[in-house]
Amino acid sequence: MQSTPNIDQLIPSLDTLTKAAYQAFQDGKSFFGVAHKSISDRLINIFLPEREKKVKPLSPKALLMLQEKRTQLLETDWRDAENGVYPVSLLFENPWEDFFRYYPAVWIDMPKIWERVRNKEYQKFDSEIDREGYPRYYLQNFHYQTNGYLSDMSANLYDLQVEILFNGTADPMRRRVLKPLKEGLSAFASVLAPQIRVLDIACGTGRTLKMIRASLPKASLFGVDLSPAYLRKANQLLSENPGELPQLLQANVEELPYLDNYFHGITSVFLFHELPAEARQRVIDECFRVIQPGGVFVICDSMQKTDSPEEFEVMMENFPAIFHEPYYRHYVTDDLVERLEKAGFQDIKTENHFVSKYWIAHKGD
Ligand SMILES: C[S@@+](CC[C@H](N)C(=O)[O-])C[C@H]1O[C@@H](n2cnc3c(N)ncnc32)[C@H](O)[C@@H]1O
Repeated sequence: MQSTPNIDQLIPSLDTLTKAAYQAFQDGKSFFGVAHKSISDRLINIFLPEREKKVKPLSPKALLMLQEKRTQLLETDWRDAENGVYPVSLLFENPWEDFFRYYPAVWIDMPKIWERVRNKEYQKFDSEIDREGYPRYYLQNFHYQTNGYLSDMSANLYDLQVEILFNGTADPMRRRVLKPLKEGLSAFASVLAPQIRVLDIACGTGRTLKMIRASLPKASLFGVDLSPAYLRKANQLLSENPGELPQLLQANVEELPYLDNYFHGITSVFLFHELPAEARQRVIDECFRVIQPGGVFVICDSMQKTDSPEEFEVMMENFPAIFHEPYYRHYVTDDLVERLEKAGFQDIKTENHFVSKYWIAHKGD
């Protein structure tokens, strides 16, 4: 006799539905990013035909591998949420209001970007932008951004531009710092949650801090960045959250304005490829100084040549050729493990997720 299926087996579980919604959400973001780039690439190639020659196409094998790695990234993102590293709701967090408000400005800004690309202008700032006191390497139109990191409009457009660049995977890549951070902080199980101090260096518009807040609701959070405009934007984003506001400070991360051994954990997302080699070492040395013995330092940045499939080398060559990224070529060959060890970090592990790489380092007791 045939057994009748249980009604519960016929109705998809809430988990299955939520996971399908997450995948659909990510597919929507990916579709949007691809569509945006294909239109904007066609336009820029009409305006600047010589640019097209600089961009090498990806092989079909590389495209397939990228697709697989993206699927793995989203799978890991889902699993970490399911395992309670952060709430599932974080997977759906998106700056919708900014999207509708500023997406037209991304297009309006484009002719200015093309003009700078054509004239090879990499350090162009409007006269009202105050450039005093910043390191020389910082005064750049990174990604050809109008006014670099130094205007409110640049801060308003940044997250949108990064989402488009990564086809909607910027946040899933940022979230990969949360698990190693939490695991590292477990060394301080006897410390009361509000007394755990976590610093996000080069916090930009505050997206990583927002994620850390969701993952560690009671910890004391701190963020440092050189850009007053990006810090204003971060303050706006973080004020939307209930709970204590992270303390934001404007400073150069090469000279952190904190006492020795102050933080239990430090994170850094998408900073190191924008620093010259000597600055990278100084930042790592500073992080070592302000981390407590037993503390953890988690870095997330672009993949590098040494541990990426050779099919991806084309992407690592295209990126600095299309965007203004003057320190990227050196970064992709730089040995950050050696730099971390030189500063004194130990027990260093690396991970790769999609097109990003992670270093998890500890300060010995
Ligand atoms: C690519 S953005 C990354 C921002 C953010 N972490 C994220 O996940 O999007 C680089 C950030 O590093 C900041 N930055 C670059 N050099 C810095 C320095 N020496 N000190 C402090 N901030 C710096 C910039 O102002 C910018 O906000």
